[in-house]
Amino acid sequence: MSPHSRKTAVVILAAGQGTRMCSSLPKVLHKIGGLPMIGHVIQTAQGLSPESINFIVGHQAEMVTRYVSSVTPQSNMILQEQTLGTGHAVQQTKSILSGKTYDDIFVLYGDTPLIPAEILQEMQHRRTTGADIVVLGFEAQDPGGYGRLVLGENNTVDAIVEAKDATEDQKRIKICNSGVMCIRGDILFELVDQIKNNNAKGEYYLTDIIALARETHKRCDVVLCAESDVLGVNSREELAVAETIFQKRKRQEALKAGVTMLSPETVYFSHDTDIAPDVLIEPNVFFGTGVHLESGVTIKAFSHLEGCSVAKDSVIGPFARLRPGTLIDEDVKVGNFVEVKNTHLAKGAKVNHLSYIGDATVGEDVNIGAGTITCNYDGYKKHKTIIEDNAFIGSNSSLVAPVAIGKGSYVGSGSVVTEDIPEDSLAIARARQVNKVGRASVIRECLRQLKK
Ligand code: UD1
Ligand code: CA
Repeated sequence: MSPHSRKTAVVILAAGQGTRMCSSLPKVLHKIGGLPMIGHVIQTAQGLSPESINFIVGHQAEMVTRYVSSVTPQSNMILQEQTLGTGHAVQQTKSILSGKTYDDIFVLYGDTPLIPAEILQEMQHRRTTGADIVVLGFEAQDPGGYGRLVLGENNTVDAIVEAKDATEDQKRIKICNSGVMCIRGDILFELVDQIKNNNAKGEYYLTDIIALARETHKRCDVVLCAESDVLGVNSREELAVAETIFQKRKRQEALKAGVTMLSPETVYFSHDTDIAPDVLIEPNVFFGTGVHLESGVTIKAFSHLEGCSVAKDSVIGPFARLRPGTLIDEDVKVGNFVEVKNTHLAKGAKVNHLSYIGDATVGEDVNIGAGTITCNYDGYKKHKTIIEDNAFIGSNSSLVAPVAIGKGSYVGSGSVVTEDIPEDSLAIARARQVNKVGRASVIRECLRQLKK
């Protein structure tokens, strides 16, 4: 049976407090690659095509529920009023999940965001070979507070011992429990009901189900993964480590997919950054969420992009900022110290130097001179600027929106354009130049006298 045809449920534990984050934001909503940690866990869980995803929430349940419901409205949110341990947490799903004949019930943590979906599939595969429970383990560099896996023969596990309850011998075990488990649906709650809290922490440990299952000769297997795959985030320091691991993965993915980066370690991605092959990215570029780049695009050094798409062969930067709502067609140039927001730049348009273009539509082959500003905000509302095909905006012009510039028109440099310009016109909106010959020396003489 292929894993996808198995009836699967996922339980995501997210009731814990996250004190060490020192934050008013719930821990699982802190972001990695622009996506809340729990969003990463949801994506991983969805890789299993589960019939049901269940969240155990407790501390700051309202905020966590709001986010989860916005991304996966079908999920069950279960309130664990007192956080009495991971076993107690899973028990809260009994009324929803028992009796529903799930083949597999996965338990994941909301604060462990980097687990590759393939590893869960490998665990599920192990279930199809006859394991009743599959535990995801890893070799810890510093086993510290992790639960230790007491291993049997042939990748089986006989018990999980929490660090605080471990003997000196058990503490020396390096293979640790990640917390992720895949359990036969029809035995989970039978086992969970037997968990007691007579241990060092006075908690109901989910990990006790292994020894309980072994009492009736159930097979418990271990699948091993890299420590970095199961990094749990408890502090800002660990959040930064998780971000680093995430960025490294995204860079490798992009390089493999045909993206050229001169200095990959200086390029920052979001979880949804979408880059076609044959894009060139120079050093020190940041991608916020919602960026799409087509092939042939060049992003020059020190550019910041967010919520925008850039079509074939366009060149952005250096030092450019593309803000949300920016849509760039083919062969466009956006140069240094240019900020573009909520604007459509049509094919062949150029904004090469020192400009702000916001809430605008810019036609084909338009040239926008250095220092041009769209004055889009009057302190209360935003207004639109329309620049039609082939128009030429002279340098250092202010376009006071709402305003429209007709096809093929010229705007003289230094203009303050407050009225629409018909097509094929020349608009000059500045004081006419006057040359007063000989006046310079008169001024100088005047100033010299004053200085005495
Ligand atoms: C747990 C494991 C340990 C493993 C470690 C990996 C148990 C008893 N121990 O220990 O073997 O090595 O994770 O990081 O399972 N939670 C709830 N409700 C509760 C308690 C916890 O939702 O009542 C959630 C927490 O928010 C967290 C997760 O479960 O996301 C793990 O809980 P935590 O208390 O951090 O477990 P550890 O002591 O780290
Ligand atoms: Ca923990």
